[in-house]
Parts: sequence; structure tokens; C-alpha cells
Amino acid sequence: MSNRAPAESPARGSASAAIADNRQKLLEATMRRHQYRPDALIEVLHKAQELYGHLSPRLLASIAHSLHLPPSRVYGVATFYHFFSLAPQGEHTCTVCLGTACYVKGALEILAALEAETGLKAGHTSPDGRLSLLTARCLGACGIAPAVVLDGVVIGHADAETLRARLHALLAEAPVTS
Ligand code: FES
Repeated sequence: MSNRAPAESPARGSASAAIADNRQKLLEATMRRHQYRPDALIEVLHKAQELYGHLSPRLLASIAHSLHLPPSRVYGVATFYHFFSLAPQGEHTCTVCLGTACYVKGALEILAALEAETGLKAGHTSPDGRLSLLTARCLGACGIAPAVVLDGVVIGHADAETLRARLHALLAEAPVTS
């Protein structure tokens, strides 16, 4: 029987499809490492949130299926702990990888520059809902460290100045209205 979790829909373009695949593989590897044991739920949820930014109903259902847990239990745990987010992030998301490979290549300096540019602390969304500044511990793109994911698109060999400019330009665009 396959325990493979379905991938989240990629946000946009082939680059985001590639990272979505990597995220799915990394989540699957985490569950496999724990032999799909139900008591690994919190660690798996942590990994899922790191990879996807928030825990969507679809993602929770897929984790419940893989760990052979009732969806109500998975949902209950995800809502109990404040560090899990079920809500989508801001209109734009910028995730700075702080995993080892990215850390040694200056990820902390990039994060500090983006915090200064946006006035946001990592893990927070701007009051107007336009931007979430997030961190992850590894995005599966260590070969192009430091890596940052901006709106689902992986930016390898990232540098603070380029990212600041890109964020500045993104936020200068008109907000998306639904
Ligand atoms: S440590 Fe950043 S992508 Fe792996």
C-alpha cells in the first residue's frame, strides 16, 4: 500500500512545480523515517508547515491517511498548538531557508535585511495581509544555497540586495483583490 501524500498544487510555473515535488519528497521522507508511526504526528506536522507554510485541510487529510490516524485527531493537534498555522499566509510569501547549507552561506544576513526592509519579524504576516516573512530549515535546494522561496518560486544563490529589491517591487504592485 502506498503512503505517498498528494502534492499541494504548485503556486505558479514550472519552478514552483519543482519545489512542490521536493516538498512532497521531503515530507514523505520524514514520515518514512518515522515508519509512518502515529506518534510522529507532531514532528510530521512541523515538517509539513516548514515545507508548505501552513497546514491546509488537504495536507492534514493526507497526513492523517499516511499515519493511519483519524483526521479529527490530526486536526485537533494542529489547532491545539499555537505554532501551527492552518490559515494561508499573506498575499505574498517569502521563505528564507535557515538550514545548515544556507546558514553557512549567509542566510541570516539575508533574513535580517528582509526584516529591516519589511519591518516584519520572521514568522509574521504584515497587518495588511500582503506579506508573510517565513523561515524553513531546509527546502531541499542545498546545492543552490542560500535559497529563498518567493511566492513559490525558488531563488538560488540568493543575495540580500536583490531580494530586497524584488520584495520592494512586489509590494509596490497593487494588491490582489478577490
Ligand atoms: S539548507 Fe537551505 S535548502 Fe537545504
